[in-house]
Amino acid sequence: MTDLSVEVAGLKLKNPLIIGSCSYTESVESIKKLEEAGAGAVVLKSLFQEQIMNDAYDTMGEIGSTFAHPELNDYVRYFEEKNAVGNYLDLIVQAKAAVKIPVIASINCASFDKWVEFSSEIEKAGADGLEINLYYLPSDPAVTDHTYVSTALKIAAELKKHLKIPFSFKLGYYSDTLAKDLLTISRTDAKALVLFNKPFNPDIDIENEKMISGYPYSAPSEISNSLRWIAIMSDFAETDLIATTGVHNGQDIVKQILAGAKAVQMTSSLYLNSFNVIGRSLNELRSWMEKHNYKELSAFRGKLSRKDNAIYDRVQFLRRGKGE
Ligand SMILES: Cc1cc2nc3c(=O)[nH]c(=O)nc-3n(C[C@H](O)[C@H](O)[C@H](O)COP(=O)(O)O)c2cc1C
Repeated sequence: MTDLSVEVAGLKLKNPLIIGSCSYTESVESIKKLEEAGAGAVVLKSLFQEQIMNDAYDTMGEIGSTFAHPELNDYVRYFEEKNAVGNYLDLIVQAKAAVKIPVIASINCASFDKWVEFSSEIEKAGADGLEINLYYLPSDPAVTDHTYVSTALKIAAELKKHLKIPFSFKLGYYSDTLAKDLLTISRTDAKALVLFNKPFNPDIDIENEKMISGYPYSAPSEISNSLRWIAIMSDFAETDLIATTGVHNGQDIVKQILAGAKAVQMTSSLYLNSFNVIGRSLNELRSWMEKHNYKELSAFRGKLSRKDNAIYDRVQFLRRGKGE
């Protein structure tokens, strides 16, 4: 019997295919369908730091620097009208009642703030775990220090005080010292690093000369970046690694586990191929394991990590010959 079960991010999963945070994980109906399709766990659509702080403002009667921008005020008011925080806690309660697979809540944030205290409400609502999507864009030329890492460390230390359920960090790849930063964050109490978040990308509508949202889904080729960094980090990270961005099928799951991931997250492929891709991917994983005589995931996890594979460090093409 081929065993696909895995213990990852402090949770026991029947298989390593986790559904990443997205609009399919913000309704109980669709979470039920994801479980029926075979998902090992789901990460709920994110609650944003600003949404939580808006509630904190209501209840604590104070206004933080988070609201310094008039646009942000509008953004926050929009969420206030929708009662985002209350709805989110309800979603956790209802999802937990409806499915057996682990339900991981998600908070999207850019800084350390009072939202961290709120995380205990997520635990009380019954979430099995919490994923913190810490986003960062090094777009300010005046910033020279590594506030990103120190923010993660502060968040981890505070979450430890407020939570009994496991938490993990979903991170980006912008850093000059990425391996060192990821290692430092892996030494916190976070049970997993989810590599990497796919940032929202801008595009330009040239007819109307205005900014629009870029294409939201990943291409299969985008797997390379997380594959490289899972392989690099798996030799020395002190916590579990979960691969995300560009995982579209069972072969991609095999690749990420060979590189050293304990589990993967899949999102775009569900939008592009329907929920059937979950069962199909798990069958592909199982068939590959049978063909290669592996009974469990740990038998091949990390077999192609960076240790013996200098190709992960290569960043330039070599000249092949005339005309190429
Ligand atoms: C429609 C949509 C909504 C998303 N919403 C969130 C979100 O709320 N929070 C989050 O952390 N990631 C969100 N993501 C990012 C995904 O969780 C995932 O990290 C990203 O799509 C890369 O994985 P993929 O290549 O499997 O799509 C969203 C992605 C899509 C396509």
